[in-house]
Amino acid sequence: MNLDFSQIVPYIPFMLEGIWVTLKFVSLSILIGFLLGTVFALFKIGNIKPLKWIADAYTSIFRGTPLILQLMLIYLAVPQLTGYDISAFLSAILAFGLNSAAYVSEIIRAGIEAVDIGQTEASMALGIPYRKQMIDIILPQAFKNILPALMNEFITLTKESAIVSTIGYLDLMRRATVVSAGTYQYFEPLLFVGLLYYMLVMGLTLIGKQLERRLKHSD
Ligand code: ARG
Repeated sequence: MNLDFSQIVPYIPFMLEGIWVTLKFVSLSILIGFLLGTVFALFKIGNIKPLKWIADAYTSIFRGTPLILQLMLIYLAVPQLTGYDISAFLSAILAFGLNSAAYVSEIIRAGIEAVDIGQTEASMALGIPYRKQMIDIILPQAFKNILPALMNEFITLTKESAIVSTIGYLDLMRRATVVSAGTYQYFEPLLFVGLLYYMLVMGLTLIGKQLERRLKHSD
Protein backbone atom coordinates (compact mmCIF):
# COMPACT_ATOMS: atom_id res chain seq x y z
CA MET A 1 0.00 0.00 0.00
CA ASN A 2 1.44 3.35 -0.97
CA LEU A 3 -0.75 6.10 0.32
CA ASP A 4 0.67 9.54 -0.28
CA PHE A 5 -1.54 12.49 0.50
CA SER A 6 1.19 15.03 -0.24
CA GLN A 7 0.60 14.62 -3.97
CA ILE A 8 -2.99 15.82 -3.81
CA VAL A 9 -2.15 18.87 -1.68
CA PRO A 10 -1.69 21.21 -4.71
CA TYR A 11 -5.13 20.11 -5.92
CA ILE A 12 -6.96 20.82 -2.68
CA PRO A 13 -8.17 24.32 -3.67
CA PHE A 14 -9.37 22.86 -6.99
CA MET A 15 -11.36 20.20 -5.18
CA LEU A 16 -12.69 22.61 -2.57
CA GLU A 17 -14.03 24.79 -5.36
CA GLY A 18 -16.20 21.83 -6.30
CA ILE A 19 -18.20 22.32 -3.09
CA TRP A 20 -19.50 25.63 -4.42
CA VAL A 21 -20.13 24.19 -7.90
CA THR A 22 -22.09 21.27 -6.49
CA LEU A 23 -23.96 23.39 -3.95
CA LYS A 24 -24.96 25.91 -6.59
CA PHE A 25 -26.83 23.52 -8.82
CA VAL A 26 -28.12 21.28 -6.04
CA SER A 27 -29.73 24.20 -4.20
CA LEU A 28 -31.35 25.45 -7.40
CA SER A 29 -32.62 21.94 -8.14
CA ILE A 30 -34.02 21.64 -4.63
CA LEU A 31 -35.85 24.93 -5.10
CA ILE A 32 -37.33 23.91 -8.47
CA GLY A 33 -38.22 20.46 -7.14
CA PHE A 34 -39.92 21.90 -4.10
CA LEU A 35 -41.98 24.52 -5.94
CA LEU A 36 -42.99 22.21 -8.77
CA GLY A 37 -43.58 19.36 -6.32
CA THR A 38 -45.95 21.54 -4.28
CA VAL A 39 -47.93 22.44 -7.39
CA PHE A 40 -48.22 18.77 -8.41
CA ALA A 41 -49.21 17.77 -4.88
CA LEU A 42 -52.05 20.32 -5.00
CA PHE A 43 -53.09 18.90 -8.39
CA LYS A 44 -53.14 15.41 -6.90
CA ILE A 45 -55.35 16.26 -3.95
CA GLY A 46 -57.61 18.62 -5.88
CA ASN A 47 -60.74 17.50 -7.68
CA ILE A 48 -59.91 18.60 -11.20
CA LYS A 49 -59.48 15.24 -12.92
CA PRO A 50 -57.21 16.23 -15.86
CA LEU A 51 -54.76 17.96 -13.51
CA LYS A 52 -54.74 14.87 -11.32
CA TRP A 53 -53.91 12.69 -14.33
CA ILE A 54 -51.15 15.01 -15.43
CA ALA A 55 -49.57 15.03 -11.97
CA ASP A 56 -49.84 11.24 -11.62
CA ALA A 57 -48.37 10.64 -15.07
CA TYR A 58 -45.57 13.06 -14.31
CA THR A 59 -44.60 11.25 -11.12
CA SER A 60 -44.91 7.90 -12.82
CA ILE A 61 -42.51 8.85 -15.63
CA PHE A 62 -39.91 10.77 -13.64
CA ARG A 63 -39.85 8.22 -10.84
CA GLY A 64 -39.99 5.30 -13.23
CA THR A 65 -36.85 6.04 -15.23
CA PRO A 66 -33.26 6.51 -14.06
CA LEU A 67 -32.17 10.02 -13.26
CA ILE A 68 -28.97 9.57 -15.26
CA LEU A 69 -31.08 8.78 -18.33
CA GLN A 70 -33.17 11.93 -17.82
CA LEU A 71 -29.99 13.95 -17.43
CA MET A 72 -28.52 12.58 -20.66
CA LEU A 73 -31.81 13.06 -22.50
CA ILE A 74 -31.81 16.74 -21.58
CA TYR A 75 -28.11 17.29 -22.21
CA LEU A 76 -27.73 15.28 -25.41
CA ALA A 77 -31.17 14.91 -26.96
CA VAL A 78 -32.36 18.51 -26.67
CA PRO A 79 -29.51 19.80 -28.90
CA GLN A 80 -30.24 16.99 -31.39
CA LEU A 81 -33.90 17.96 -31.59
CA THR A 82 -33.63 21.73 -31.46
CA GLY A 83 -30.17 22.46 -32.77
CA TYR A 84 -29.44 24.51 -29.68
CA ASP A 85 -26.79 23.47 -27.21
CA ILE A 86 -27.84 23.32 -23.60
CA SER A 87 -25.16 23.86 -20.98
CA ALA A 88 -24.23 21.12 -18.54
CA PHE A 89 -25.24 23.43 -15.70
CA LEU A 90 -28.74 24.08 -17.05
CA SER A 91 -29.24 20.41 -17.94
CA ALA A 92 -28.25 19.44 -14.43
CA ILE A 93 -30.63 21.87 -12.74
CA LEU A 94 -33.48 20.83 -15.03
CA ALA A 95 -32.94 17.09 -14.69
CA PHE A 96 -32.53 17.18 -10.92
CA GLY A 97 -35.31 19.72 -10.36
CA LEU A 98 -37.82 17.87 -12.54
CA ASN A 99 -36.88 14.51 -11.05
CA SER A 100 -37.11 15.76 -7.50
CA ALA A 101 -40.54 17.30 -8.12
CA ALA A 102 -41.91 13.81 -8.74
CA TYR A 103 -40.74 12.61 -5.32
CA VAL A 104 -41.54 15.84 -3.49
CA SER A 105 -45.10 15.90 -4.82
CA GLU A 106 -45.71 12.50 -3.21
CA ILE A 107 -44.15 13.58 0.08
CA ILE A 108 -46.28 16.73 0.20
CA ARG A 109 -49.43 14.91 -0.88
CA ALA A 110 -48.96 12.43 1.96
CA GLY A 111 -48.34 15.33 4.36
CA ILE A 112 -51.50 17.16 3.35
CA GLU A 113 -53.61 14.01 3.54
CA ALA A 114 -52.30 13.32 7.03
CA VAL A 115 -53.57 16.65 8.39
CA ASP A 116 -56.73 15.99 10.40
CA ILE A 117 -59.86 16.42 8.28
CA GLY A 118 -61.30 18.47 11.16
CA GLN A 119 -58.95 21.28 10.18
CA THR A 120 -60.46 21.47 6.71
CA GLU A 121 -63.99 21.16 8.07
CA ALA A 122 -63.42 23.89 10.64
CA SER A 123 -61.96 26.29 8.09
CA MET A 124 -64.79 25.57 5.70
CA ALA A 125 -67.31 26.19 8.48
CA LEU A 126 -65.62 29.53 9.09
CA GLY A 127 -65.96 30.34 5.42
CA ILE A 128 -62.21 30.59 4.78
CA PRO A 129 -61.53 30.44 1.02
CA TYR A 130 -59.66 27.36 -0.33
CA ARG A 131 -56.47 29.26 -1.17
CA LYS A 132 -56.18 30.85 2.26
CA GLN A 133 -57.14 27.60 3.97
CA MET A 134 -54.33 25.78 2.15
CA ILE A 135 -51.63 28.42 2.62
CA ASP A 136 -52.42 29.46 6.20
CA ILE A 137 -53.79 26.32 7.80
CA ILE A 138 -53.16 23.03 6.00
CA LEU A 139 -49.73 23.46 4.36
CA PRO A 140 -47.93 24.75 7.50
CA GLN A 141 -49.16 21.74 9.47
CA ALA A 142 -48.30 19.35 6.66
CA PHE A 143 -44.84 20.87 6.36
CA LYS A 144 -43.99 20.14 9.96
CA ASN A 145 -44.79 16.44 9.56
CA ILE A 146 -42.97 15.94 6.29
CA LEU A 147 -39.82 17.79 7.19
CA PRO A 148 -37.78 14.61 7.84
CA ALA A 149 -38.94 13.08 4.54
CA LEU A 150 -38.07 16.30 2.70
CA MET A 151 -34.63 16.37 4.27
CA ASN A 152 -34.14 12.79 3.06
CA GLU A 153 -35.00 13.92 -0.44
CA PHE A 154 -32.56 16.84 -0.30
CA ILE A 155 -29.80 14.55 0.97
CA THR A 156 -30.49 12.05 -1.83
CA LEU A 157 -30.30 14.87 -4.36
CA THR A 158 -27.01 16.15 -2.93
CA LYS A 159 -25.32 12.76 -3.21
CA GLU A 160 -26.95 11.81 -6.49
CA SER A 161 -25.59 15.08 -7.90
CA ALA A 162 -22.33 13.18 -8.44
CA ILE A 163 -23.76 11.74 -11.67
CA VAL A 164 -23.41 15.11 -13.42
CA SER A 165 -19.74 14.22 -13.68
CA THR A 166 -20.84 11.91 -16.53
CA ILE A 167 -21.76 14.93 -18.69
CA GLY A 168 -18.50 16.67 -17.96
CA TYR A 169 -19.76 19.15 -15.39
CA LEU A 170 -16.87 20.00 -13.08
CA ASP A 171 -18.59 19.16 -9.81
CA LEU A 172 -16.96 17.62 -6.73
CA MET A 173 -16.99 14.09 -8.13
CA ARG A 174 -15.59 15.10 -11.50
CA ARG A 175 -12.81 17.01 -9.78
CA ALA A 176 -11.73 13.88 -7.93
CA THR A 177 -11.38 12.02 -11.21
CA VAL A 178 -9.48 14.94 -12.74
CA VAL A 179 -7.02 14.82 -9.85
CA SER A 180 -6.70 11.05 -10.26
CA ALA A 181 -5.85 11.52 -13.91
CA GLY A 182 -3.16 14.03 -12.97
CA THR A 183 -1.57 12.11 -10.11
CA TYR A 184 -2.37 8.45 -10.93
CA GLN A 185 -3.78 8.25 -7.44
CA TYR A 186 -7.34 7.21 -6.79
CA PHE A 187 -7.79 6.60 -3.12
CA GLU A 188 -6.63 9.99 -1.87
CA PRO A 189 -8.77 12.30 -4.07
CA LEU A 190 -11.80 10.04 -3.75
CA LEU A 191 -11.45 9.94 0.01
CA PHE A 192 -11.05 13.70 0.09
CA VAL A 193 -14.19 14.50 -1.93
CA GLY A 194 -15.99 11.75 -0.04
CA LEU A 195 -15.32 13.71 3.13
CA LEU A 196 -16.56 16.88 1.48
CA TYR A 197 -19.83 15.19 0.44
CA TYR A 198 -20.21 13.88 3.95
CA MET A 199 -19.74 17.37 5.36
CA LEU A 200 -22.35 18.75 2.96
CA VAL A 201 -24.84 16.11 4.06
CA MET A 202 -24.03 16.74 7.73
CA GLY A 203 -24.67 20.45 7.14
CA LEU A 204 -28.06 19.67 5.61
CA THR A 205 -28.89 17.32 8.48
CA LEU A 206 -28.06 20.03 10.97
CA ILE A 207 -30.24 22.59 9.21
CA GLY A 208 -33.09 20.06 9.16
CA LYS A 209 -32.75 19.30 12.86
CA GLN A 210 -32.65 22.99 13.70
CA LEU A 211 -35.76 23.66 11.64
CA GLU A 212 -37.54 20.73 13.24
CA ARG A 213 -36.72 22.01 16.70
CA ARG A 214 -37.96 25.47 15.86
CA LEU A 215 -41.22 24.16 14.43
CA LYS A 216 -41.75 21.98 17.53
CA HIS A 217 -41.29 25.05 19.70
CA SER A 218 -44.09 26.83 17.90
CA ASP A 219 -46.51 24.07 18.90
N1 ARG B 1 -30.60 6.64 -8.55
C1 ARG B 1 -32.00 6.97 -8.54
C2 ARG B 1 -32.50 7.00 -9.97
O1 ARG B 1 -31.71 7.05 -10.86
C3 ARG B 1 -32.14 8.26 -7.82
C4 ARG B 1 -33.24 9.15 -8.20
C5 ARG B 1 -33.26 10.44 -7.48
N2 ARG B 1 -34.00 10.32 -6.32
C6 ARG B 1 -34.70 11.31 -5.78
N3 ARG B 1 -35.21 11.08 -4.64
N4 ARG B 1 -34.88 12.44 -6.40
O2 ARG B 1 -33.67 6.92 -10.26
